[in-house]
Amino acid sequence: MEVRVQNIRKEFSRFPALEDVSLNIGSGELIALLGPSGSGKTTLLRLVAGLESPTEGTIFFGDQDASKKSVQERNIGFVFQHYALFRHMTVLDNVSFGLKVRPASRRPPAAEIRRRALDLLDLVQLSGLEKRYPAQLSGGQRQRVALARAMAVEPNVLLLDEPFGALDAQVRKELRKWLREIHDRTGHTTIFVTHDQEEALELADRVVVMSKGAIEQVGTPDEIYDHPVSPFVYGFIGQSNCLNVTLASGEIWFEDRPIGLRAANEPDGAATLYFRPHDVELIDGCGGCLAGLVTASRRVAGTRHLELDLGRGHPAIEIELPPERAASADHTRIAFRPTRWKLFRKAERPQAPSQSVDTQAHELVRVGA
Ligand SMILES: Nc1ncnc2c1ncn2[C@@H]1O[C@H](COP(=O)(O)OP(=O)(O)OP(=O)(O)O)[C@@H](O)[C@H]1O
Ligand SMILES: [Mg+2]
Repeated sequence: MEVRVQNIRKEFSRFPALEDVSLNIGSGELIALLGPSGSGKTTLLRLVAGLESPTEGTIFFGDQDASKKSVQERNIGFVFQHYALFRHMTVLDNVSFGLKVRPASRRPPAAEIRRRALDLLDLVQLSGLEKRYPAQLSGGQRQRVALARAMAVEPNVLLLDEPFGALDAQVRKELRKWLREIHDRTGHTTIFVTHDQEEALELADRVVVMSKGAIEQVGTPDEIYDHPVSPFVYGFIGQSNCLNVTLASGEIWFEDRPIGLRAANEPDGAATLYFRPHDVELIDGCGGCLAGLVTASRRVAGTRHLELDLGRGHPAIEIELPPERAASADHTRIAFRPTRWKLFRKAERPQAPSQSVDTQAHELVRVGA
């Protein structure tokens, strides 16, 4: 089912947990809500579920105003961050629960409930464990039971609030892949909360980046990573460097020299240059470029990360190179230039972030993409 969140504001005793949030989720889409702690992810999920009501704004399920529907009528499947299985019930009873408590008119016969629950346990690869109690399962198995339970009611929308948050990295990775497969098979419209960017980028059709109760950017994983619309998104997704620079006559200057990057048609003045560690090229005999002293170097999987000191109290810059190019770089001076980069006007953040990324006034230039 399609879900439309329109101009939602949510206050808790005057504290605005969400401010003017709008989001359209297509039927069958897998959406990740990604943001730091306190950014409003759980609040948004609870509003969609009907566990909270908005201070202002409307949520539509299809073309119907959901505020007119109770939590039951919304028919939501919800998996919480912390295990919320019924401890005194077997795995099978946990999965069957949502169907068993339905009013008689909408409740399937007992044999049908059992069959559906067993099918779901098969889907989440827990066949044979139906008689166990939650205490007799591993953390990953418990979350899979929770997911089966959420899906048993054939929900209009599946809401997952950091369902793998409490699990170790390896198990998380496996469950993430598996969740994507299950989603592709069942096709439930799914909203998945995480503060793990890797999880969001790998799993979701679209990622919603949230900060301080507002949406900073909505886009596919590629759009979010390759075209961040604000310094916040640049800094939050993946690694990035930022440098204070000056624009003069369409040239970008660092301190007292141009660095060989052009920003045509932009007004003169101070700005911040953002670039990712892997988006750099080394320059021989630097006339117009950036240069720094290598202060640390470490091998990370297939690349070498160098930390550079650009002097005069500038924050350290990290660049990433193929190991053979950086092998003997320690304590030497390196000249380089960003190949993909973006400028933001100084100290500027979107005042009222919205979904429409192309209207952000602070975005100046991006080249070489
Ligand atoms: N019931 C409540 N009463 C008062 N304030 C609340 C309530 N629920 C949430 N808040 C506040 O609203 C803000 C958003 O909270 P929310 O739980 O949505 O964040 P989150 O993005 O899910 O964070 P986390 O990643 O830590 O789970 C926080 O500042 C939080 O303190
Ligand atoms: Mg939360």
